[in-house]
Amino acid sequence: MLKIIISGCNGHMGRVVADLCAADPKVEVVAGFDVLGSNDREFPVFTSPAQFTGEADAVIDFSSPAALDGLLDFAKATKTALVLATTGYTPEQVAQIGAAACEVPVFRSANMSLGINVLLELVKKAASVLGDSYDIEIVERHHRRKVDAPSGTALMIADAAASSCGHETEYVYSRHEVRQPRDKKEIGISAVRGGTIVGEHEIIFAGHDEVMEIKHTALSREIFAQGAIEAAKFMAGVTEPGLYDMSQLVK
Ligand SMILES: NC(=O)c1ccc[n+]([C@@H]2O[C@H](COP(=O)([O-])OP(=O)(O)OC[C@H]3O[C@@H](n4cnc5c(N)ncnc54)[C@H](O)[C@@H]3O)[C@@H](O)[C@H]2O)c1
Repeated sequence: MLKIIISGCNGHMGRVVADLCAADPKVEVVAGFDVLGSNDREFPVFTSPAQFTGEADAVIDFSSPAALDGLLDFAKATKTALVLATTGYTPEQVAQIGAAACEVPVFRSANMSLGINVLLELVKKAASVLGDSYDIEIVERHHRRKVDAPSGTALMIADAAASSCGHETEYVYSRHEVRQPRDKKEIGISAVRGGTIVGEHEIIFAGHDEVMEIKHTALSREIFAQGAIEAAKFMAGVTEPGLYDMSQLVK
């Protein structure tokens, strides 16, 4: 039985993870972490990781970048694997995660869905063939509650395109302040926020007389929650410290 802690357990994603775990006979949720606390869940909820004294195989985190310090301290002190699904980390926090991964196994992905991670491979292939002569634009759409923009997934897609297009790139997030034609090295990234859109990512390769688009639409949060649970199962078998991601699951 895989013992899991859900960080951010009171949030939209945390609740979906809890529901999927409850239906999975191989998984037991031993605790939740959430600043809000709670007395009415089927597992104990702690407002700080330091309060938990039991044992767990992995922490699945869908919370906030503000939770990172406490989670890293907990993981290092107890040698518990971390599955970080939270987005919006600062570059300093990303470095902190890298340093912690020298001591404890850490899985991190800004998008836990299988489809997006296959899409990243398609983007790399397309960018390697078209990147020299086609303009690359990324458009992402999310619900009105999302706080970070552009999405971590849009940045992952931009990084995949940049790593394969064969020339220097510059990410452009807004065009309203400049009045000049588009430069070849630009990768445009646009964020749309509204309603309850779970998550859409569209990559446009616009060439002369030809446009190619690759699009992923998330229809429910379950795809992310299930991906995070699969990641936790994977991490339970990992003994070496290190930084892991979906590329280890999508083979
Ligand atoms: N990697 C992925 O596939 C993926 C998919 C969906 C969402 N996300 C990310 O997951 C995060 C959560 O998304 P959500 O829609 O569930 O948000 P949400 O606001 O509904 O839930 C966040 C929860 O975290 C709790 N929280 C906030 N700060 C905390 C702290 N310092 N310590 C402990 N708990 C804290 C809140 O009380 C809340 O219950 C976001 O960063 C989002 O972008 C990632």
